[in-house]
Amino acid sequence: MKFKKNILCIGAGYVGGPSMAMIAHKCPDYRVTVVDINTARIDAWNSAELPVYEPGLDAIIKKTRGKNLFFAKDIENQIKDNDIIFVSVNTPTKTFGAGAGKAADLQFLEKTARQILEHSQSPKIVIEKSTLPVKTALAMERILASAKGKITFDVLSNPEFMAEGSAMTDLENPDRVLIGSRETQSGLTARAQLVDIYARWISAEKIITSNIWSSELSKLVANAFLAQRVSSINSISALCEKTDADISEVARAVGMDGRIGSKFLKAGIGFGGSCFKKDILNLVYLCSYYGLQEVADYWESVIKINEYQQDRFMANILGNMFNTLAGKKICILGFAFKADTGDTRESPAVYITRKLIAEHAQVVISDPKALKNAALDLAAHEGTISYIEDPYRAASGCHALAILTDWELYKKLDFQKIYKSMIKPAFIFDGRNIIDHQKCFDIGFNVYPIGKPALSRFEDQSAA
Ligand code: NAD
Ligand code: UGA
Repeated sequence: MKFKKNILCIGAGYVGGPSMAMIAHKCPDYRVTVVDINTARIDAWNSAELPVYEPGLDAIIKKTRGKNLFFAKDIENQIKDNDIIFVSVNTPTKTFGAGAGKAADLQFLEKTARQILEHSQSPKIVIEKSTLPVKTALAMERILASAKGKITFDVLSNPEFMAEGSAMTDLENPDRVLIGSRETQSGLTARAQLVDIYARWISAEKIITSNIWSSELSKLVANAFLAQRVSSINSISALCEKTDADISEVARAVGMDGRIGSKFLKAGIGFGGSCFKKDILNLVYLCSYYGLQEVADYWESVIKINEYQQDRFMANILGNMFNTLAGKKICILGFAFKADTGDTRESPAVYITRKLIAEHAQVVISDPKALKNAALDLAAHEGTISYIEDPYRAASGCHALAILTDWELYKKLDFQKIYKSMIKPAFIFDGRNIIDHQKCFDIGFNVYPIGKPALSRFEDQSAA
């Protein structure tokens, strides 16, 4: 079959896989190929067990794979054969050299640019889908412009705003699609080609265009604003715990102000995920680099509050369990950084588990989708942690439950049954405020929510 457009995506991760599956699904007359240097990942995309869990992804992959969606390993040939190339490689925080711990590590992006340069035999549109520091497109353009022949490259910025766990609905019905380009004739022509792809299923007013630097920066700023809301509500949850105010009531009252809005005001154990922290650190680094130290400090405080919230949660467990966890069995309900994903990157659960182990607690981890990743994250502690998917079996014989992910299934657990199987006094630390606290207290548990009065049979042990 002859396809109208041939699209390539370099990077078959959480973004590359789902976003290209959506393009293939919406544009059956386009051929979409996804490549990766990680050949095991490509094998997984071609298998029955996809490397990424996302509600709705399986169904779309089944419809498109082998028809107009392909996962391939021959990166060089694919670069030759495709004219539109998305780059969706990882851009983690740098761990070495200048800017270590803050700046973005752009080595994967640069290697991709050099590969595109080396193997291209015709003009290409190269689209940054990875999240990048503002001005990265300049470096990309400079590398690509070093072509000796007559091949031309147009670099566009098209940051991805999907969230994990709701990726397929976000991709199908995004709040907006942002496309940044150079405002030259060829830049505008390339931009129009990308607009055409999204216009297949997204209404024109939601496809917005801008200059390329605004586009790159908007992505970092959107994530920083979202994370800032989580830190703002979490900071107030600490004050609620001191004053008998209830964070859910405060969030509802504040969020009903149309200017503020109700989303992203759920207090919890702090934000996780591969991007919020790295993107804010990147923003902090950029601000410092441009001499804007006050601005850098302002954004860095969002991360500080996030760390404070996790430490507070841990101190709460320790203090309320009579200041010793040694030999006690703690059941962690939920290890993924949020519900509906198996992703554990930067999950607060990783940090809290390590802290529990440092206190010599015995940890049992339960999660419907993230146990494989949890075992990889905690490989250094092999033998000291049990992984049990069934929450009832996991909780049995434990002294405490710590709810760390907002999985729907935890709201519906039979806590009476769980209570019976646990060591008494039994504790629940609800890091997501998702269960019925009064009901659990009435069953016999001592219950410690976030930002709400504790329901405990003991005097304030943390003060002991
Ligand atoms: P990921 O680590 O899951 O996937 C990146 C993939 O790129 C990996 O499989 C890696 O092997 C591959 N890769 C690296 N260098 C390569 C090369 N030279 N050639 C071929 N493949 C190469 O990362 P992700 O979560 O998909 O994120 C990708 C980018 O998208 C990041 O910049 C991230 O900030 C951004 N982003 C992520 C999300 C999300 O929800 N995960 C959402 C929006 C934006
Ligand atoms: C986030 C953004 O929402 C996406 O728009 C963006 O594309 C993506 O980062 C990215 O660049 O990677 P994601 O991290 O997948 O998406 O998930 P979110 O729903 O944003 O949740 C992030 C963290 O904040 C989770 O740990 C979640 O539990 C926590 N959170 C979120 C709260 O604690 N309270 C809230 O009210 C909302």
